[in-house]
Amino acid sequence: MIGIIVGTRPEIIKMSPIIVECEKIGLEYLLIHTGQHYSYSMDKIFFEELELPAPHYMLNIGQKCSTQGAQTGEMIIGLERIFLKEIKALKIVLVEGDTNSTLAGALAAVKLHIKVGHVEAGLRSFDRKMPEEINRILVDHISNLLFAPTQKSEQNLLNEGIPKENIFITGNTIVDAIYRNLKIAKRKSKIIKELNLREEGEYIVLTLHRQENVDVQHRFNNIIEALKEIDFPIIFPIHPRTKKMAYKFNLLKKLDMGQLNLIEPVGYLDFLKLLENSKLVLTDSGGVQEEANILNVPCLTLRDNTERPETIEMGANYLVGVDKNKIVEMVSKILNDKEFERSMKNAMNPFGDGRAGERIVGILIKRDWV
Ligand code: UD1
Ligand code: UDP
Repeated sequence: MIGIIVGTRPEIIKMSPIIVECEKIGLEYLLIHTGQHYSYSMDKIFFEELELPAPHYMLNIGQKCSTQGAQTGEMIIGLERIFLKEIKALKIVLVEGDTNSTLAGALAAVKLHIKVGHVEAGLRSFDRKMPEEINRILVDHISNLLFAPTQKSEQNLLNEGIPKENIFITGNTIVDAIYRNLKIAKRKSKIIKELNLREEGEYIVLTLHRQENVDVQHRFNNIIEALKEIDFPIIFPIHPRTKKMAYKFNLLKKLDMGQLNLIEPVGYLDFLKLLENSKLVLTDSGGVQEEANILNVPCLTLRDNTERPETIEMGANYLVGVDKNKIVEMVSKILNDKEFERSMKNAMNPFGDGRAGERIVGILIKRDWV
């Protein structure tokens, strides 16, 4: 049996194609949720919209732990208990991405000599101040199978001495998730109407949640100062970390500006619909950089580096950091320079053909690790 670990919003979305594939071919799996994300709008809504079964185990870690160590430690304890109970049936545990849930799942499994498969392996920002970079490196080095989305991510793994025979370039499961859900989003989502927006490109989407941005007051403040200068409607589904830090730094009032519509995080269908119809996206999210590239939406990344350099090479994404002038200049270039906007929108998708989930499950079956 395959163990599938999820904990946060992006893991639920990016593991969904693997779960769907298991269901399709009748393969038994054990879905384990650490509960790192727990609010309805960060968790349950995705199970409902992506039509995923309820997890077989739920750890409810999120609300209890606030520090990196406590959160990861509690998850390891809880996951180890589950793995011990299921050890006879579990042939491999799959973890996704770079969160504390990913690290805890991989560590708890490998110490019990259960095989580990890392979905979305080999991404590197080369910035070890990011908790995600530490998680990625550690998980890659204790995994038996590494499912790299692109050649570049495979090369990162090879550069670190990981044997080639353990690495498979599969594409990123986010493409599968988009292809599967975009048509449904177009049919079902009412978000454009609900927010009184016109369909085509009359607004910017903003997402913001990176620890190195919102937990650092001057960086968070710089971004808000830049937003003030943008004379164009901005839709901002605010991440709970960001809301919490805005409150702590007394920045909520500053976010109260005419052009900015601050809303609760939205479900996947609404987000796809919002993103697909936007003029451009401002973000520090990993997944949103990929989705913007795939959906041909110009992306400006509010970070100094990215572990998704493919999006930059394709011309779909620019790093603008948190420098107010740079942000405003690039937004204005996309809004006013049609040729530049077109070149960003014409970028190719480097993340595969939407069959990554099928490929990953196929590899497990071929190895008889299911
Ligand atoms: C985590 C991941 C990050 C990922 C992001 C996806 C780590 C180190 N970070 O960051 O890589 O990009 O998820 O969104 O694993 N909160 C709620 N409700 C929730 C979830 C969180 O209110 O459902 C609040 C809590 O106050 C919590 C804070 O947000 O303390 C941060 O949540 P946490 O899961 O620790 O980190 P994220 O910033 O979400
Ligand atoms: N997303 C969503 N609703 C929102 C904001 C984002 O469904 O209000 C989705 C988005 O489509 C993407 C994922 O959440 O697939 C990205 O998650 P996040 O930015 O939290 O994490 P990261 O990708 O940076 O780890």
